[in-house]
Amino acid sequence: MTLLDKQKTILITGGAGFIGSSMVRSLVNESDNLVINIDSLTYSGNLSSLKQIQNKKNYKFLNLEIGNTDEVKKVFLKYEPDIIINFAAESHVDKSIDSPNVFFETNVMQTLRFALVAKDYWKDVNKDFLFHHVSTDEVYGDIPKSDPPSNETVAYKPSSPYAASKASSDHMLRALNRTYGLPITISNCSNNYGPYQFPEKLIPHIIINILKGEQLPVYGDGKQTRDWLHTSDHINGILNIIELGQSGDTYNIGGNNELSNIYVIKMICDFIDKNFSKKLNNLNSSRELISFVSDRPGHDKRYAIDTSKIMNAFDWKPSIDFKSGLEDTIKWYVENEWWWSEILETKYHMDRQGNK
Ligand SMILES: NC(=O)c1ccc[n+]([C@@H]2O[C@H](COP(=O)([O-])OP(=O)(O)OC[C@H]3O[C@@H](n4cnc5c(N)ncnc54)[C@H](O)[C@@H]3O)[C@@H](O)[C@H]2O)c1
Repeated sequence: MTLLDKQKTILITGGAGFIGSSMVRSLVNESDNLVINIDSLTYSGNLSSLKQIQNKKNYKFLNLEIGNTDEVKKVFLKYEPDIIINFAAESHVDKSIDSPNVFFETNVMQTLRFALVAKDYWKDVNKDFLFHHVSTDEVYGDIPKSDPPSNETVAYKPSSPYAASKASSDHMLRALNRTYGLPITISNCSNNYGPYQFPEKLIPHIIINILKGEQLPVYGDGKQTRDWLHTSDHINGILNIIELGQSGDTYNIGGNNELSNIYVIKMICDFIDKNFSKKLNNLNSSRELISFVSDRPGHDKRYAIDTSKIMNAFDWKPSIDFKSGLEDTIKWYVENEWWWSEILETKYHMDRQGNK
């Protein structure tokens, strides 16, 4: 990646979260770029995910909300960023069903305030600038089985408050590009997995519950399908877009790897049974913990995105196959109990099924 060879100032928001911290670790470790991480450390932000780079010279952390216009302006003036990568968001669909307000406050209103600061800064500063906004495939909504995967021209049809808030921020950033010329790119990525993902999300939730001998709640019949991509392939895709993408353009990023939730859950069970059987307390198989629970309201059956645009434009493709990526992720959670047990003790809230 040529970006990694240049000395730029990259301002990352939400860099203490799952995907943002992966980007921060990668850029700080593998480049001379100065990385400024703005994160307000909500329940899903963890500085422990950044321990290995916290004292590096090319890294600076600021505990700040992206919607705090006055303080954010000062950050722009002090560090004069060349590139913004906006990960900061409320990101958990179940939480958006329980409390939609905070999703629209953060993902729409705070994102708008942040983008307007960026727009004013870009107008004043005399250098190349790009605002990259990280979004989701959930903006396309439920894709009937008979339909092809959504490409970037398909109209948004979000189902959950989370997806609707992300769709709004995508539209808003495109409007700032069209109206004021603010240089932006957007990526819409499918479900990510990998180390350091907050324990409320499907894959870590299942791994941790097996290790704790607790039930594995499966929504409905578990046949909802999702496309899965390893975080490191996602951040690599984003870096390609930042390097080579067209201002104003949107790119899907995905794994071309549609799997049902129940299939993924059984893969996790079987790998743990085979490799970590000592962790199973008096069970023959961790599949015995599977428990079907009532479905999430408005639950989309299928997400599927067409990634031919990014693959053809930049020669990008996923480098980690799902089976080996999932196995490495399971091993990471087994070996890094310090990371998730601290979160379970301090930050974890009950989910919709009442599971911890
Ligand atoms: N996880 C996925 O599978 C996935 C897939 C596609 C796109 N995305 C998008 O990628 C981005 C990151 O997702 P994630 O899974 O890493 O989420 P996450 O919840 O793990 O991290 C979000 C981070 O944003 C921070 N944050 C929240 N509100 C903030 C605010 N007002 N100001 C500053 N910081 C704030 C949190 O403290 C946290 O560190 C999100 O925009 C999400 O919509 C996620």
